[in-house]
Amino acid sequence: MSVMDEQIARLRAAAEARIGAAADGATLEAARVALLGRRSELTQLLRGVKDLPEAERRVAGDALNRLKTDLAAGLAERERGLALAARPAGAVDLTLPGAPPVPLGSLHPLLVVLEEICDIFHSMGFTREEGPDVELDYYNFTALNFPDDHPARDSQDTFYVSDAVCLRTQTSPAQVRVMERRTPPLSCIVPGRVYRNEATDASHASEFFQIEGFSVDRDVSLADLRATVQQFVDVFFGAGRKIRFRPHYFPFTEPSVEVDMACASCGGSGCAVCGRTGWLEIMGAGMIHPNVFAAAGYAPDAYTGYAFGLGIDRIAMLRWGVDDIRLFYENDLRFLHQFRGAW
Ligand code: PHE
Repeated sequence: MSVMDEQIARLRAAAEARIGAAADGATLEAARVALLGRRSELTQLLRGVKDLPEAERRVAGDALNRLKTDLAAGLAERERGLALAARPAGAVDLTLPGAPPVPLGSLHPLLVVLEEICDIFHSMGFTREEGPDVELDYYNFTALNFPDDHPARDSQDTFYVSDAVCLRTQTSPAQVRVMERRTPPLSCIVPGRVYRNEATDASHASEFFQIEGFSVDRDVSLADLRATVQQFVDVFFGAGRKIRFRPHYFPFTEPSVEVDMACASCGGSGCAVCGRTGWLEIMGAGMIHPNVFAAAGYAPDAYTGYAFGLGIDRIAMLRWGVDDIRLFYENDLRFLHQFRGAW
């Protein structure tokens, strides 16, 4: 070891001891002046480097500068330690580096579609309501004009909690619940999860989502329903998509229809997406049955109204070309991440 090396090692040891012993800001500041100030031994040594023999200059300069950097870092570290020790218990340390980036989640694609659809109806004056997932058989069936022996009431189709209580199989029971506590005019949408006791496959799940919509006033007609659905389709799927009403049967609407929308994949000429029909079914609908008004406590001919129920899963599948409903419920992030930023 050269004389210079020994001197540096001694200086380093003494300086570290002094920094470590500084118990408050003032002693630490005094240490800084003594160790790095103009008159410090280190500064003197650095000044002398230029007078050293050429061969030693570079090595000595490097070593002294390294010591200087290390001591400055040691002083800063000690200063932080003293500040930390001095802060009141429980205080937040603002000098700590920020937290690592938190991975952001995103809305589930079904929720994206649900919110978008609700927004569209909201803009048409519909208000949002809720109904219970665990529902009385009365609201799910009886009040909706289902006869006692209707097959949907079979436990093969419906999950029963008890004789009188089931998991709702549709969002329609909310029609009666809302009408019981409000008087027309009213226009409501009710999004929610529904349950059916059936085997699952690419187009059936035992839990899925629906949005119920209904509008009741003195002279509401099927034409109002048609204009409302067309407006929804124009905004959600893009203007210019034709819709059509196909006669159907639901116990709680009369007349009842299924609503189809022209298939965008083939423009109506028929393809695999629409099963060669040129049309895609998007919802069930109809004029609210007088028996439903009666169950809600309305005078039978005081009002007219329409109702519709659309499957959110089906709408989401149509929008994004998803061909298996089960993908929405498996929570595979490789699937879900594709919808990041969709909302
Ligand atoms: N509740 C019906 C279903 O689940 C859909 C529907 C709602 C039909 C409102 C007509 C009126 O299939």
